[in-house]
Amino acid sequence: MDAVNIGIVGLGNVGSGTLAILADNADQIALKLGFRLHVAAVCSRSVHSKDMPAAPASAVRTTDWREVVNHPAVEIVAELVGGSGVAAEIIDASIARGKSVVTANKELMASCGPEIWDRAIRAGINLAMEASVCGGIPIHAVLREGISGDRVTALYGILNGTSNYILTEMEKRGEAFGAVLGEAQELGYAEADPSADIDGFDARSKLALLAALAFGEKITPADIFVEGIRRISPMDFQYAHTLRHTIRLVCAARQTHDGLILSVRPALIPLSTILAGVQGAYNAVWVKGAFGEDTFYYGRGAGPRPTGVAVVSDLMRVAREIRYGSPERVSPFAHERLGEYKPVSVALQKRAYYLRFRVDDRPGIIAALAGILASKHISLESVLQEPCDTKHDLPFVITVEPTSEQSVRDAVEEMSKLDFLREPPLALPMETAL
Ligand SMILES: NC(=O)c1ccc[n+]([C@@H]2O[C@H](COP(=O)([O-])OP(=O)(O)OC[C@H]3O[C@@H](n4cnc5c(N)ncnc54)[C@H](OP(=O)(O)O)[C@@H]3O)[C@@H](O)[C@H]2O)c1
Repeated sequence: MDAVNIGIVGLGNVGSGTLAILADNADQIALKLGFRLHVAAVCSRSVHSKDMPAAPASAVRTTDWREVVNHPAVEIVAELVGGSGVAAEIIDASIARGKSVVTANKELMASCGPEIWDRAIRAGINLAMEASVCGGIPIHAVLREGISGDRVTALYGILNGTSNYILTEMEKRGEAFGAVLGEAQELGYAEADPSADIDGFDARSKLALLAALAFGEKITPADIFVEGIRRISPMDFQYAHTLRHTIRLVCAARQTHDGLILSVRPALIPLSTILAGVQGAYNAVWVKGAFGEDTFYYGRGAGPRPTGVAVVSDLMRVAREIRYGSPERVSPFAHERLGEYKPVSVALQKRAYYLRFRVDDRPGIIAALAGILASKHISLESVLQEPCDTKHDLPFVITVEPTSEQSVRDAVEEMSKLDFLREPPLALPMETAL
């Protein structure tokens, strides 16, 4: 059977990993498919100065992505540029030319995925986006195929390797957030501008995509409450451990009586939960189904090779459908907004909370804080204080029994006006249900 010709636009981390796997694993891929995948064209802005032993000598090398999309032999275009500018043009032009698309672009798919899918379906071409979330974990295939017979009730994830690396290093070594972030930047785990990772926006795009696939909903990042990890300090891990918990940037999408509650935020999770074992730059996704119950997926969330595997596997699936025929496609964002899947405010959620304070010590502090909690009908569960040298910046923690997020927000707002506080209280949910 004839080879399927591929064009690759973007030869950075993911593009170079993809090319290397296509070259080094070419024979296995051909055996699995029954035909070869042939790279007919490659493109990047600096393609002529790139050392590309993995690209076939016959491949067109160009700085203009249009040459790849318009190449008559190319049947699948891999968009591995990223962002929402030129990447959107590449995908739109490929669809318009009747070419299938493989992309690793979470940003674009999270914000415009439903519209792009609609265009792809109308054009009768295939679209694959496995690499866009959790690089090396085939979570799209799981949600679209593996457990598609189930009805997902909740999905939890650790979806950002950089913030997980920072949190787990702080936990292991007791180092401050800023110092570990600096190390992560030196090691290449964190960008020079780390905001997308540590403020939760990267994880939010990924959760939007996964929740859309899991619940068949048009969920956009704006539907998701987001809070980053900048305020977490080593003392929070000390207190969390005393409570037999740890802290992770938890991405959560769960079905409730009111609708879907979606959030990306640091949370306390029990040390005994499987998610607490996810260390360093690894990612994990935990899905709960009404019928099949719990399934858990774990692997590298980024990197040229794990993400390259996801792209190559997508190329294989799309190529197989091109050669052997494709079933009629339904967009993974197929549902209209059904009541039970409608995103609702995280303020409706009920959880136990961890409240951490830094105070200028004086008599009456606990009474003042307890008074505010009581006025919001919040029941105090415990007060913890680790030994500390200074009375002028004294940390301690109050945990409260399950209550609505809205009442905790109201209490924190009122507490923030108290003059003995060194900074506003840090409030983290305790995900005891995990
Ligand atoms: N890095 C990961 O581990 C990872 C994991 C999962 C998903 N992703 C996603 O994969 C995509 C690519 O990420 P990456 O880390 O590989 O990015 P990257 O290293 O910055 O590579 C981007 C590539 O796109 C090329 N490019 C940029 N603008 C272009 C233009 N106008 N015309 C032609 N080529 C252009 C760049 O060319 P030059 O080389 O000439 O500058 C570069 O080769 C993103 O959507 C990202 O979110 C990445």
